[in-house]
Amino acid sequence: MQIKNFGKLPDGREATLFILENGTGAYAAVTNVGASIVSVVVPDKNGNLGDVVLGYTDGAKYLTKGAYHGATVGRVANRIEDARFTLEGVEYILKPNYNGQHMLHGGEIGLDSKLFDAEVCGDTVIMKTVLPDGEDGFPGNIEITVKYDFDAENRLNIEYFAECDKTTPINLINHSYFNLNVTGDICSHELTINSDEYYPLADNGMVTGEKRPAVGTMNFKEPKIVGSDIDADCPQIKLAGGYDHNYFLQDGKDFVLAASIKAPESGRIMRVYTDMPGILFYSGNFLHTHEVEGKLGRAYMAREGFCLETNYCPNALKCPQVKQPILKKGEKYHHKTVYEFAV
Ligand code: BGC
Repeated sequence: MQIKNFGKLPDGREATLFILENGTGAYAAVTNVGASIVSVVVPDKNGNLGDVVLGYTDGAKYLTKGAYHGATVGRVANRIEDARFTLEGVEYILKPNYNGQHMLHGGEIGLDSKLFDAEVCGDTVIMKTVLPDGEDGFPGNIEITVKYDFDAENRLNIEYFAECDKTTPINLINHSYFNLNVTGDICSHELTINSDEYYPLADNGMVTGEKRPAVGTMNFKEPKIVGSDIDADCPQIKLAGGYDHNYFLQDGKDFVLAASIKAPESGRIMRVYTDMPGILFYSGNFLHTHEVEGKLGRAYMAREGFCLETNYCPNALKCPQVKQPILKKGEKYHHKTVYEFAV
């Protein structure tokens, strides 16, 4: 593993880049800023290496909120309607950071803004941080650990661990945007999601817990070109400006193939495996609104990357019928997600 300086943060601390090489020429790079994925460099059908993850060239830019490039997002990823929830009879009032009223991606501070402590153990990098009791309004001092390794089969293996001294909600995701062609829009990618049901959005953009059959525009059970219905005259698509929808995988904790996506031009394929209850497909509809210069020397365009976020259901704390993202005091949180690359 190569370890490099990744620039200074505004408060003077140094960011670090860990380059996880697997001996084939392919590699993944992660930083301790937000325990973020910075790069995944893998071959195309002609054997040419290319970086299929969007992001930045220095650590400080990972602190610019908005797109959440590559970040480990938490303590509770995605939305909490009205920025409040009740747990064990106590109501917790959070500070809204989304549409003036709701909470998005862990709040104003969030896990993505933390400089994690990192330790290298063989080919694995282990990143740890503690979110203090009350930060962003959540209960309990929670220790969060993210483990990354990139194996010889071009699999980026991610494990999440957490423990808290109070019962707390938790939903940790990785927010990488991928483009299997490196650049251009992702509408030509062909996506399969191993799910029959998705969670529709209400008019305010919130999941209500209702599940619907994933048919028509929302159907990815069979491989489908992302762009084929992305501008369809369909209320769900119009609401989100494209896809921004969570698909149901399971109520259990089996390790399953959740999705696979292929770019015909480069021939690259990515498969996502997880033990989480769902997978959210976000087609990067608002990437252009985040005007920070990325790796390619310019800001990204709308739909230049897609996210496949393995998660508990968005807004689950307001939807009692879905699996609850609750970690009880004394219990251990553990989930695993793998992004596998092939041609
Ligand atoms: C959410 C989108 C949001 C994006 C960037 C995704 O996880 O589902 O609604 O725009 O993150 O914050």
